[in-house]
Amino acid sequence: MPQPPSIPRLKVLTGIPKTIRDPIKTFNGYSGIYGENYLLSVGGSRRTHLTIDPDVVQYVLQKNHRNYEKSEIQTDQVARYFGHGLLTNSGKSWLTQRRLIQPGFHRKRLEKLTESMQSVIDLQCEDLRAKAASGTKMNLHHFTRDAVFRIIVKAIFTDGFNEEDTARLNAAIDKVHGYIIYPVRVPFLRGPLRWLGQEKKHIGLANDVRRDIQRRIDLRRAEDPKDDLLQMLLDTRYEDTGEPMTDEQLIDEVLILFAAGYETSANSLAWTIWLLLRHPDKMALVRKEIAEAEAVGPIDFEGVRRLPYLTQVVDESLRMYPPAWITDRVALEDDDTGTFSITKGTVIGLFIHGLHHNPAHWEAPYEFRPERMTPEAKKARHPSCYVPFGGGPRLCIGNHFAMLEMLLLLSSVLKDFDFELESGAELVGHKPLITLHMDRVVRVAVKEI
Ligand code: HEM
Repeated sequence: MPQPPSIPRLKVLTGIPKTIRDPIKTFNGYSGIYGENYLLSVGGSRRTHLTIDPDVVQYVLQKNHRNYEKSEIQTDQVARYFGHGLLTNSGKSWLTQRRLIQPGFHRKRLEKLTESMQSVIDLQCEDLRAKAASGTKMNLHHFTRDAVFRIIVKAIFTDGFNEEDTARLNAAIDKVHGYIIYPVRVPFLRGPLRWLGQEKKHIGLANDVRRDIQRRIDLRRAEDPKDDLLQMLLDTRYEDTGEPMTDEQLIDEVLILFAAGYETSANSLAWTIWLLLRHPDKMALVRKEIAEAEAVGPIDFEGVRRLPYLTQVVDESLRMYPPAWITDRVALEDDDTGTFSITKGTVIGLFIHGLHHNPAHWEAPYEFRPERMTPEAKKARHPSCYVPFGGGPRLCIGNHFAMLEMLLLLSSVLKDFDFELESGAELVGHKPLITLHMDRVVRVAVKEI
């Protein structure tokens, strides 16, 4: 099928270094010049159709999702390290696993996890109290990272990890996460990284984590059942065979929950706190709302519903700094998206950051305006111009988990503590790795309110 002439085609051989350095800036620049859709050929790699067009996003993720699979970058490349869990799986096997795991994230299960999340948050607050008393400044991202990592560990293993184990696991996962951006983002580095032994080293680290998880599984089988995600994965049975998951699949799924559900929420929380600190008027509204919500009752699974403004703040933070700032799909057959035709094998880059800043759908897109995230305002917008958790059948399975942990943590922390940003913190920019990081360390002084 021929491409309609209206879709610009860019050959950006010379643009490779700047695309590698800051793909967000580069792609947003191209969108400003060439519009919502354009074809990109980056020196020899497969043609990629970049889009910030909500109609196309909706078409690919939902309306004709059967014709689009994740690319090998998202599946095989990441699976080398993190295994074939939900995030990296595809086709029939993905669907079977998704059906099996979905119930673990239903409302009732999440409600049961609330207490465990809150117990981690309470410990983190104790740590903050000590920091406030000693006047120690803290690294904002380390704080959110530790909190979120402990929450996910406890949600999966209840009580399986002590401090030392948690720190070791966290360090290993961070190292692998930090490394895979190179083979994923820069295909021509894959060979050299292999020759230099880097690939082997990081697969080795991931294998250490796998062995650790296997030990926890063996321990659990010898213990009484618990009410956590590991138990859910152990107890579930395939509909057709009545068999449980193999240990290998179990480990893949646990590992992928760490890989998908940790950096994303940790970054988002750091961005949200940073945004609020830079907008004291919004912070005051948040604190007022938390105080009023607490006056009615505890802020728990039901209580977070009394925090509509804080929810809007988190939504707006996810719009401005979407942790999953890009995703992709490959067309399995020639297709017509309604806006343009696409040939089999073409990659579509769903550029979520660009979509969330698309001026055709967002007024003053670079301004922090939680007010634009009321349910009414959301309804009035195109449903696919805001997709921080993706969309269609592959919608993030942990979206409610993530929102719950973020609201619980923010409400606990912001009601009792104030943070002072170091000078220069207003200059923070984004650093697009696998997820969207801050480009520098942000330190804050902690004060008890
Ligand atoms: C702010 C936090 C989070 C954000 C922004 C986020 C974002 C996303 C996005 C955009 C996708 C879809 C990717 C695609 O379709 O290409 C996704 C998938 C996924 N997420 Fe999340 N996520 C978050 C938190 C979590 C948490 C807490 C968990 C687990 C506890 C989790 C587990 C997963 C899994 C397993 C998938 C793959 C689902 C599938 O393909 O069936 N995520 N996430």
